[in-house]
Amino acid sequence: MTFGPEDSLAAAVSQATAILRDAGVPSPRVDAELLADHLLGVGLGRLRAMMLGDSPAPAGYADLVAERAQRIPLQHITGVAHFRYLELAVGPGVFIPRPETESVVQLVIDHVKGMANPRIVDLGTGSGAIAGSLAHEVPGAEVHAVEFSPFAHAWAKKNLAPLGVKLVLGDLRNALQEHNGTFDVVVSNPPYIPAEAIPNEPEVALHDPPEALYGGGADGMELPTAAAASAARLLIPGGYFVMEHAEVQSHWIARMMERTGVWTEITTHLDLNGKERATSAVLSGPRPD
Ligand SMILES: C[S@@+](CC[C@H](N)C(=O)[O-])C[C@H]1O[C@@H](n2cnc3c(N)ncnc32)[C@H](O)[C@@H]1O
Repeated sequence: MTFGPEDSLAAAVSQATAILRDAGVPSPRVDAELLADHLLGVGLGRLRAMMLGDSPAPAGYADLVAERAQRIPLQHITGVAHFRYLELAVGPGVFIPRPETESVVQLVIDHVKGMANPRIVDLGTGSGAIAGSLAHEVPGAEVHAVEFSPFAHAWAKKNLAPLGVKLVLGDLRNALQEHNGTFDVVVSNPPYIPAEAIPNEPEVALHDPPEALYGGGADGMELPTAAAASAARLLIPGGYFVMEHAEVQSHWIARMMERTGVWTEITTHLDLNGKERATSAVLSGPRPD
């Protein structure tokens, strides 16, 4: 099936929606519209107005729809992921940031409200979604970010350099030793999927990098446990740690943190769908003045 200038925009978007639905794409109409808008660059409101008239389908639309029907992630086709107030450059080699992670950022923003120049580090920054949002939304914050994958690091560098985030290529298990005991906040959305829980959606299973997904060990807890240990190393006493995780892991994360004996105020947080998807805690000891 091809769309050409002889097809109206409205007809092409309807056909594209049917093609994407048949391919199992979860939100076929929205994706069909976003792909058309990617070519036209008018914004969804104007695009929908154009569909009421007899505007032609944009050149190249059929190719983009065919790619999306192959379950290539929408963001890899458009090259952009929207996250809070940011438009992040993304593509193969980097994890596409998810809406639920926006709530993790909000927990940090709520925590640092009223703090002058908080020092924050994001462990496993991927595209830089968390670190970039915090640099953008928290005035005076000094934000650092760590990423292990050279491919993801390259995307993060592109996104974070304009926002003044200090990015390092390194392993969250031992990175930033020179900053031990100095951060007010450590935030992380580490890989956490259990080894056997291979995601169903091809966009995730085939296109998110494996090193961004699987947490290590049968329960996926190796990297979340390592992130908590690094948080205890990097924070000042009284510092705040928040980590995203799978719903099934909320009890394990809380128990794992209790066992170390260094955390207080261990709190599980719900995402917008009411699922236990993040845990925060405060490092024991008085905050230095
Ligand atoms: C689930 S993704 C999250 C990316 C980003 N923070 C977000 O929320 O969109 C986890 C990220 O951690 C990185 N990562 C995996 N192992 C790591 C390690 N040992 N040290 C640092 N980063 C690591 C992956 O490459 C990936 O970018």
